[in-house]
Amino acid sequence: MIKKAVIPAAGLGTRFLPATKATPKEMLPVVDKPAIQYVVEEAAAAGLSDVLMITGRNKRPLEDHFDRNYELESALTRKGDAERLLKVQESSELATMHYVRQGDPRGLGHAVLCAEPHVGDEPFAVLLGDDLIDPRDPLLARMIEVQGREGGSVVALMEVDPEQVHLYGCAAAEATGDPDVVRITGLVEKPDPADAPSNLAVIGRYVLDPSVFGVLKRTEPGRGGEIQLTDALQELAGDEKIGGPVHGVVFDGRRYDTGDRGDYLRAIVGLACEREDLGPGFRAWLRHFVTDEMAGD
Ligand code: G1P
Repeated sequence: MIKKAVIPAAGLGTRFLPATKATPKEMLPVVDKPAIQYVVEEAAAAGLSDVLMITGRNKRPLEDHFDRNYELESALTRKGDAERLLKVQESSELATMHYVRQGDPRGLGHAVLCAEPHVGDEPFAVLLGDDLIDPRDPLLARMIEVQGREGGSVVALMEVDPEQVHLYGCAAAEATGDPDVVRITGLVEKPDPADAPSNLAVIGRYVLDPSVFGVLKRTEPGRGGEIQLTDALQELAGDEKIGGPVHGVVFDGRRYDTGDRGDYLRAIVGLACEREDLGPGFRAWLRHFVTDEMAGD
């Protein structure tokens, strides 16, 4: 049974300055919830009740968000505002939260390595905060199932436009008997389009065998001078004796990227349109905005 989720959240969020000068990028709202809450909710929904966040300086608001806020709770209780009280309490009841600081930001592989003392010798999940997966299209539960059956590690893959491959880890893979599962034969971090082995991109969900820690310890800095998780998984994929195989679950559901400003705006519009409470009114406004206000563009 996989119980632990690791969420790297130490990045500086420079793409969102000045919003992220004093606020962690993970706390930026997507509709009315901080982006990071969607990710913790996804982990909890997949049965991962123990969440370790890899944080850094200036990330205190993350800890506060997943903790109780008695002052707010008692003010809302006095007002009899049960609906908002629930919203305040929800985030502190999702999972048991733990935090460790990364110190030197030396890349995603290094962030994952910081989880070793907490995770120990058991398989665990890694969720990257820039990727939001629609709760109606469960991905993590499927990955956990595949890991339970095949052992080793499992990454989430998505077919992307070949021009986008250079933004992701990219997989060479072969088919298995399961239409949504592939066996990974190679992985390369952010390849030039000409060198990309496929258009299968790694999206930010992983279920990892703990042998990845040993490999990460000897993984040299790669793309961007950072210790890359992709490089450690490439080594695992090639060798069952050290902790492979690596499988991929090919996801074709709804994924929102909050990693850069344009994608962040698209994520907000996409999710707002689908909300039961806000969606109908927002969609009507959006239709009007696109047809009337932007007609001349
Ligand atoms: C990271 C990983 C990359 C993966 C991506 C998914 O890159 O290094 O392999 O495809 O997340 O979002 P980042 O986007 O943090 O540069």
